Amino acid sequence: MVVSSAPGKVYLFGEHAVVYGEPAVPCAIERRARVSVEARDDDRIRVHAEDLSLNGFTVEYSDDSDGGPDVDVAESLVQAGIGYIDAAVEQARDAAGRPDAGFDITVESEIPLGAGLGSSAAVTTAGIDAGTRELGVELSAEEVAERAYQAELEVQNGEASRADTFCSATGGAVRVEGDDCRAMDAPDLPFVIGFDGGAGDTGELVAGVRALREEYDFAADTVESIGDVVRSGEEALAAGDVAELGELMNFNHGLLEALGVSSRSLDQMVWAARDAGAHGAKLTGAGGGGCIVALDPTDSTQTALRYTPGCEDAFRAELDTDGVRVEDEE
Ligand code: MEV
Repeated sequence: MVVSSAPGKVYLFGEHAVVYGEPAVPCAIERRARVSVEARDDDRIRVHAEDLSLNGFTVEYSDDSDGGPDVDVAESLVQAGIGYIDAAVEQARDAAGRPDAGFDITVESEIPLGAGLGSSAAVTTAGIDAGTRELGVELSAEEVAERAYQAELEVQNGEASRADTFCSATGGAVRVEGDDCRAMDAPDLPFVIGFDGGAGDTGELVAGVRALREEYDFAADTVESIGDVVRSGEEALAAGDVAELGELMNFNHGLLEALGVSSRSLDQMVWAARDAGAHGAKLTGAGGGGCIVALDPTDSTQTALRYTPGCEDAFRAELDTDGVRVEDEE
């Protein structure tokens, strides 16, 4: 049995535009998904999952069963979660040359599903790491990142950037532009996260931006403008200028709103954070619902968010410099 964990993340800048080759800067946060994998002596897969925002569920299936997994919680989020686990299993089998390997898998996550904090990348990354190790293969963080990216591509109908999976595999602040992924130096960033209790469908939201971009020139220009904001953000990050970073996050949020991926509750939380004196605030991840990230070294934003209609949880998050790692191996 092997247990691996990987961190979630917030986007300081650049989600959605990164899908079209613009740079993005995601930062790993100290909230992890832990995946335990134990090889079985048949080819079946049994998944038990516990997530803070869902009741636990268990499914069991194998490749030759006709229908999909037999899930007794009719939630599209659960189905999406299973899709990522399934794709991680395929990657682990492929890396080990064991196409028929069966596993008992347990997922425990501190990262709400589909809320913009990189739960799917964390589960996929940790799952590939634990699955390959259980089959006797040790991959580097970069190899895990590559396979996790391939898994996300498959689940998201060919539309994913390397940002989420690379950040989750390597930890820290990273810069991703197309296939170029690298670590970045970052100052201590006072992240505050607001969560509306909801979720967005990444695949649908990415497809929505693509459709808008095809229909309107302004949308293509907006994607490019996000790239400009990110490039300025990189300079602010290098200078350790947190006030400037906040201002640029505000611009980034406005541009994401123009692309139609914000929501009333995300906007309400963003404005509550700004009114409370945060340096800046924006939605994080695919949007549609889920989380915002603000920069505020004081307690004001967290307190204000707790009283904001539509905000279900507000918490501080530290940058996690550790990427995917083994927690336990027997
Ligand atoms: C989702 O966490 C981030 C998006 O940019 C999609 C991706 O990069 O794959 C919306």
